[in-house]
Amino acid sequence: MPGKSRNSKIAIDGPAGAGKSSVTKEVARRLNLRYLDTGAMYRAITLKLIQENVDITDQKLIAEILKNTNIKFNEQEEIFLDGKPVAAEIRSSAVNQLVSPVSAIPMVRRRLVEMQQAIAKESKGIVMEGRDIASIVMPDADYKIYLDASIEERARRRRKEQLEKGIEMTELEVIAEIKNRDLIDSGREDSPLTRVQDAVVIDTTDLAFDEVVDKITGLVNN
Ligand code: DC
Repeated sequence: MPGKSRNSKIAIDGPAGAGKSSVTKEVARRLNLRYLDTGAMYRAITLKLIQENVDITDQKLIAEILKNTNIKFNEQEEIFLDGKPVAAEIRSSAVNQLVSPVSAIPMVRRRLVEMQQAIAKESKGIVMEGRDIASIVMPDADYKIYLDASIEERARRRRKEQLEKGIEMTELEVIAEIKNRDLIDSGREDSPLTRVQDAVVIDTTDLAFDEVVDKITGLVNN
């Protein structure tokens, strides 16, 4: 393993469906770095709000819940909410529907960004993926990557992913869902999806998975 990657902090941002999760996991595996899926944290807090039947405009209650919620990852990077594994549950359609509005709540972002920064600080090296990693969470990252893809390709991937879960959606439905998510994720006031100026932009539309991973590990190793 090249020594250079050992302490590297790598930020990977981009919209839903650009291939962030699978690429980030493989980059982390190849470079032997810790991996953090920050979207999973927004999903976990969304799941908690659903479980507790919280009205997401109720600031006081959300503040209380944030204080009393524990989100942790184990050695295998599996996510736990208040001690229970929730990897599957955070991908449910109920969570999908509510996660963008929940992640636009400033108080929620403050708390999760704080946790993400603490994780970055205690890790020797890390690959972190999200929407605001290079801009807010790790502005001091050694490598900043912005992954993008055409909306058609992102929709194709999302449809395939849903079909694997047994959920059938038309292309139009998926495109509408993605556009809505982009609008909320990019339009919110507090740390929106951002492409920082010094990011290396990789358009994954016509690239094979390995090509994307090779590009990123190549940047770090060379
Ligand atoms: O990457 P994902 O689909 O699991 O993300 C779920 C939601 O969380 C998505 O609507 C955007 C939001 N998110 C965010 O606002 N900031 C991040 N750093 C990561 C995700």
